[in-house]
Amino acid sequence: MRILGIETSCDETAASVVALDDAGTPQILSNVVYSQIDDHAAFGGVVPEIAARAHVEALDGIVATALAEAGTVLGDIDGVAATAGPGLIGGLIVGLMTAKAVAAAAGKPLIPVNHLEGHALTARLTDGLEFPYLLLLVSGGHTQIILVRGVGDYERWASTIDDALGEAFDKTAKLLGLPYPGGPNVEKQALAGDPSRFAFPRPLRGEARLDFSFSGLKTAVRQAATAIAPLSRQDVCDICAAFQLAVTETLVERVGRSLARFRGEFPTIGEPALVVAGGVAANKAIRTALEELCAGRSMRLVAPPLALCTDNAAMIAWAGIERIRARMTATDAMTFTPRSRWPLDEDAAPLIGSGKRGAKA
Ligand code: KG4
Ligand code: ZN
Repeated sequence: MRILGIETSCDETAASVVALDDAGTPQILSNVVYSQIDDHAAFGGVVPEIAARAHVEALDGIVATALAEAGTVLGDIDGVAATAGPGLIGGLIVGLMTAKAVAAAAGKPLIPVNHLEGHALTARLTDGLEFPYLLLLVSGGHTQIILVRGVGDYERWASTIDDALGEAFDKTAKLLGLPYPGGPNVEKQALAGDPSRFAFPRPLRGEARLDFSFSGLKTAVRQAATAIAPLSRQDVCDICAAFQLAVTETLVERVGRSLARFRGEFPTIGEPALVVAGGVAANKAIRTALEELCAGRSMRLVAPPLALCTDNAAMIAWAGIERIRARMTATDAMTFTPRSRWPLDEDAAPLIGSGKRGAKA
């Protein structure tokens, strides 16, 4: 089976071909990602309209490149999987409409994919992980802890009630005059900083619920920066270090509680796995802290290679394969409309601050 995947939900235009052989072994035949970072850098964040236009311009060429690099043609593809949500609506429309057109022209099935499901199932593509496992998704748009029980079977244990973690990194960077994207720059400055100089809050620490909140932390960073302005280079480094320590400790505390809950619900699994995905998983301080946390609980930390942790189309193609294998493809695929909000766990209660249209997913 060979599936073409298309991803356009944020600021990466991506296409990929993933194959599954008769023995059930997957292979990524191509994985093309065009990052629009340069298009958005001047604005300090992703501008939805610019993103949608950039997807329109780039997608045809990216799909052609993905097919060529895979050494295949549309006629030999068994289906087209495309991100149908959640994400920026303009980009989703471009990707899903393109996928519909390609599927219709080639006479192949279309598989609309939930972007979060792509992240959730990646560890099965890279590490052949068995269900169930726990997923920590930390990116620019999402901060969630999800119990992955099976294909299409997810339970959201935690989400952010305000900003996503990557968003908190990006906003902190912007406030300190560091370039976009902020995460890697905050991490770099933090290396030369003294984390004990500022006592930033650890939001929701000690609360039994597993959710996250980062907007109060962001405010504390702004107040600290304003109080000592103008900032020297060392001030910036110290704020970054203190911010990074605060979010790392927050993650460890929240995830630690989730691991205990997982152990309680699945006492017979020998060495359960925690999967990390999303751009923030690139952060070495965070990664090391999670590794130590898992090691201390006799759990395994599974971190797919970064290129498959951040937004890409191989995970979308793979989610398509998983859905075909599980006979869980939508029957109304060609009339499926993109969803800017689309929680993995439709039963999860909306969180405070998530707005009328449901959780920030
Ligand atoms: O998964 P991703 O590439 O895209 C989506 O948000 O969907 O994640 C990007 C986010 C950005 O907010 C970026 O600042 C953050 O991940 N990020 C990091 C690091 N590298 C990327 N945050 C902290 N430390 C890093 N090293
Ligand atoms: Zn993502």
